[in-house]
Amino acid sequence: MMARGKFITFEGIDGAGKTTHLAWFRDRLSEKVAASGREVVMTREPGGTKLGEALRDILLHQPMDLETEALLMFAARREHLAEVIEPALARGDWVLSDRFTDATFAYQGGGRGLPRDKLEALERWVQGGFQPDLTVLFDIPADTASERRSAAREPDRFESESEAFFNRTRAEYLRRVEEAPYRFAVIDSTQSIPRIQIKLEELIASI
Ligand code: TYD
Repeated sequence: MMARGKFITFEGIDGAGKTTHLAWFRDRLSEKVAASGREVVMTREPGGTKLGEALRDILLHQPMDLETEALLMFAARREHLAEVIEPALARGDWVLSDRFTDATFAYQGGGRGLPRDKLEALERWVQGGFQPDLTVLFDIPADTASERRSAAREPDRFESESEAFFNRTRAEYLRRVEEAPYRFAVIDSTQSIPRIQIKLEELIASI
């Protein structure tokens, strides 16, 4: 029987440098999995499907009630799991996602203050006990991240949030790590790009 693929997610507050490292990581991981005839499916949340990308556009640009926001994140996620993630893993491919459920706990929970029990109920509903095999968290203080962000493009609804918001978001990411340390690799994102690449290389070798 063909082995199931692995599910890897990248997380971090806006400005942590996650996007910079994703493409590099994908290429290195693809080389590794190609040796056993597998592919790396690269995807993102919110998004990853036609419906999910339409929801992303709404979520990133349209004001809405906080509970609506959380429900739409999980609706997009259900579609993503059913259409992309589960089929890919079942056929033995690997999936690399730019964000997943930890982001909803961090942003809608930590950042915006939605009670955690509601998010835990949605998490159970949408994914049962399913969790990433590995989550790479790019960790950085909120003020450093905001300096990095200000150089970049037009901010969306999340990127324009306050430093206090990102402090809470970061704290919730770190709480998720405490809760399930075995699935996380926390990377100090204040380090240089080459240093971070050494860490990522070690991670790839170990999975
Ligand atoms: P991001 O992943 O940072 O992509 P880009 O680099 O293109 O801006 O953007 C997605 C935004 O959505 C980010 O600000 C975090 C937010 N988000 C949530 O608030 N909750 C979620 O569950 C997810 C997946 C993302």
